[in-house]
Amino acid sequence: MIADLIIYNIHKLYNPIEKPPVKGINMSNIDVLTHAYIAIKDGKILKVSQGDFKHFIDAKTTLFDAKGSVCLPGFIDSHSHLVHGGSREDEFEKLKQGTPYLDILKAGGGILGTVEKTRWASFEQLYHQAYKSLDTMLSYGVTTLEAKSGYGLSLKHELKQLEVSNKLNHDHPVEVVSTYMGAHAIPKAYENNREAYIKNIKEDLISIKASHLTNAVDVFCETGVFDLSETRDILETAKSLGFTVKLHADEIDALGGAGLGVDLGATSVDHLMAIKDEDIEKLAKSNTIANLLPGTSFYLNKTYANARKMIDEGCALSISGDYNPGSCPTENFQFIMQLAANYLIMKPEEILNATTINAAYHLGLQKTKGSLEPGKDADIILLDIPNLAYLFYHFSINHVTDVFIKGEVVVKNKRILRNTYETN
Ligand code: NIG
Ligand code: FE
Repeated sequence: MIADLIIYNIHKLYNPIEKPPVKGINMSNIDVLTHAYIAIKDGKILKVSQGDFKHFIDAKTTLFDAKGSVCLPGFIDSHSHLVHGGSREDEFEKLKQGTPYLDILKAGGGILGTVEKTRWASFEQLYHQAYKSLDTMLSYGVTTLEAKSGYGLSLKHELKQLEVSNKLNHDHPVEVVSTYMGAHAIPKAYENNREAYIKNIKEDLISIKASHLTNAVDVFCETGVFDLSETRDILETAKSLGFTVKLHADEIDALGGAGLGVDLGATSVDHLMAIKDEDIEKLAKSNTIANLLPGTSFYLNKTYANARKMIDEGCALSISGDYNPGSCPTENFQFIMQLAANYLIMKPEEILNATTINAAYHLGLQKTKGSLEPGKDADIILLDIPNLAYLFYHFSINHVTDVFIKGEVVVKNKRILRNTYETN
């Protein structure tokens, strides 16, 4: 078969090879090809191989010289709070002086501060702020992003956030997968009537489902936010309506959210800095992904999740950015991966599996994303590095030079190509 596009002159191509969920010791397994090429047709991968590619080309085939780059599948950032109004730099000083994150929330700031700003923001303001962030993420090699609502906390405003993330999915080359997170905090108006807010969320789930804007529900299970039985109540209702479920679990206090997630068949349990030992064992026996977010530990100056123990016990891990205005204000996904190397003590191969195939798996995208295999989307990044280990060693700069999404070049020589997609 003749290809539309050949990316050739790839110095080293690193690729996941294990079937997801990739667990424990298998997270160290990846494939490496030297002097490789990729043949692409109709946005899909036709062949990944070495040597001669003449049989794939005719006069119409575009040839793209990778100039000795390293090639990887596009990164999949499977946890973000992309769409929100404003920022929270005013809280940074308080956090540095030791005010706990949950105390700021209790005083009506934190997430609730962003809720105010998000409710006041127009659709266009939210869209443009998120679009800019998405461009930055793309330039750092993210080709698929999960984006949660959760700063509206009423049906109208949650739908507004979800409509923004769905429009971004349509307009921007990055694939944006939306999640409903009405259970991100108890809104101020319901401070003394949390039962009523939880009842609202459960009713709103019917409208959210009917909107077709998302198929996943997330809950912030934490002291002072949603406790274990409230989380179970909301997620069981979501499941009965056909949603997949996941949760922010054991981030600050060891409530047992990870264990609950396994019991509910959650696609992922996220954060896990305070996870109980018995829940690590439970996770290892399940297909629920442990989604670790080291940027949050870095920014809040907190302990890091015990990734080594989780891998040793056989869990499947993903690593995500958790981009949000309150606990991880950065779109630099390579820095997040470098934190995983330095503070989660993960190996390059483990981090690659965690940010590609395992992330694709828990987002339900493993058939089309997460590795460079024939038939999958040609979501490909080129990096100006000599080998994979170098990506984690030379930190805090952008190594990605070129990005292809569904076979289209969208970043070339570190420049986003505006003419290939709508900019609004
Ligand atoms: O994943 N933990 C809860 N939610 C976000 C923070 C949201 C915020 O502070 O605005 C997180 O860390
Ligand atoms: Fe989060």
